[in-house]
Amino acid sequence: MDALHLTLLFLCSLSLVHSLGPNCEETSQGSTLRVYHVSSPCSPFRPKTSLSWEESVLQMQADDKTRLVYLTSLIAGRSFVPIGSGRQIIQSPTYIVKANIGTPAQSLLMALDTSTDMALVPCAGCVGCSSTTFNSAKSVSFLSFACGTDQCKQVQSSSCLGTSCSLNMTYGASSIVANLARDNLTLATDSIFGYSFGCIQKTTGGSFPPQGVLGLGRGPSSFVSQSTTLYKSTFSYCLPSFKSSNFSGTLRLGPNGQPLNIQYTPLLVNPKRTSLYYVNLIGIKVGSTTVNIPPSALAFNPNTGGGTIIDSGTVFTRLVTEAYTAVRDEFRRRMGKAVVSSLGGFDTCYTVPILLTKVPTMTFMFPGLNMSLTQDNFLIHSTFGSTTCLAMSASPNLNVIANMQQQNHRVLFDIPNSRLGISREVCS
Ligand SMILES: *[C@@H]1O[C@H](CO)[C@@H](O)[C@H](O)[C@H]1NC(C)=O
Ligand SMILES: *[C@@H]1O[C@H](CO)[C@@H](O)[C@H](O)[C@H]1NC(C)=O
Ligand SMILES: *[C@@H]1O[C@H](CO)[C@@H](O)[C@H](O)[C@H]1NC(C)=O
Ligand SMILES: *[C@@H]1O[C@H](CO)[C@@H](O)[C@H](O)[C@H]1NC(C)=O
Repeated sequence: MDALHLTLLFLCSLSLVHSLGPNCEETSQGSTLRVYHVSSPCSPFRPKTSLSWEESVLQMQADDKTRLVYLTSLIAGRSFVPIGSGRQIIQSPTYIVKANIGTPAQSLLMALDTSTDMALVPCAGCVGCSSTTFNSAKSVSFLSFACGTDQCKQVQSSSCLGTSCSLNMTYGASSIVANLARDNLTLATDSIFGYSFGCIQKTTGGSFPPQGVLGLGRGPSSFVSQSTTLYKSTFSYCLPSFKSSNFSGTLRLGPNGQPLNIQYTPLLVNPKRTSLYYVNLIGIKVGSTTVNIPPSALAFNPNTGGGTIIDSGTVFTRLVTEAYTAVRDEFRRRMGKAVVSSLGGFDTCYTVPILLTKVPTMTFMFPGLNMSLTQDNFLIHSTFGSTTCLAMSASPNLNVIANMQQQNHRVLFDIPNSRLGISREVCS
């Protein structure tokens, strides 16, 4: 690397902000914390470069594609790392919360990820991590697990690296080497003593969130499983729209304060992929028409991993090709004669101003629950309104209800009762 590149690298690391922006620090109330979008004015990870609208959409699509490959590799039990492009801009996962780790507490802005179990924290000395790390030497409650301990043996993909319990993992397009460790974790007001996590020593690939990941999946090493006594495996969130200037939503932990008037659908368990939240999508309505979708495109199949998951880290909803085509065709039919163009992976875009009153409603149907979407959940518009796209695309074998579709809904994960609740709630 030449001197110019080194200087640039140095200047870039200096410009990294380490915590939430001014006026963004809100004290948590009870067990409710603020959730920020990564491009929120409060977020230090907001891209500094001014990408054009098209460029930022294409970038989010590219990151989504990487995540879809990651989610499907989880399902098939294969372990492979897609080639990373080396970009450092973080779009996936998209929402962050403030977490405190250690004694005295050190703050990190960790990404929420409902499809990952183990929390992953960049630790001091990590090769390839951002400049904000957790310094375990400064925490009196920190403990690193030795290899051969029961805790180490219980974690998949653990091995011995010298005397410490080492984990090799992939995350999106990144590969990670971490030590299994534990320390107190505090979200909102309550502390979980001795929380197990991966203390990252090395990462390559560039799709890893700079201040770590908080895994909210269903599996044994997730936040949900490690905080059962405190929060009874129950949480909900309301994700703010990334369009709104009032960018913060909430993550509410535990059964207290959850909505009482909410429709539920059963959560399904895939024994081969215990971290993912599967639901049974049974149909989709565009306007008043229930679209004709072959049942195989929606069917839950634990062997192939097929079916539908709800995920906080994918941005744009994905439907298995036959389902996507049927929904898209009905959508286009309702939009009338307007000429359709494409933008990256979106094939239903309109470059003339469209009549928003013509846009049909959309409803995702589950047993016991209809999720009604507003236009903001499935349409994206360029800054000057000259291009509008249906923000969904086709997927080979997995339907993903992504975060754009979830925005401004309360999504309640009630694991003891094995059910998912969704209700409309404007949180931004
Ligand atoms: C961390 O956990 C230890 C027990 O392991 C406890 O004594 C200590 O008070 C905790 N620190 C914080 C900040 O909660
Ligand atoms: C984990 O990764 C390290 C460094 O990339 C490598 O040396 C080691 O062999 C890997 N261990 C396992 C069990 O794959
Ligand atoms: C943001 O939302 C909160 C709660 O709805 C509201 O009280 C506040 O005035 C809003 N702020 C702005 C700048 O819109
Ligand atoms: C969802 O909508 C369908 C079609 O309109 C209706 O038949 C069904 O009863 C609704 N389900 C719930 C739980 O409201």
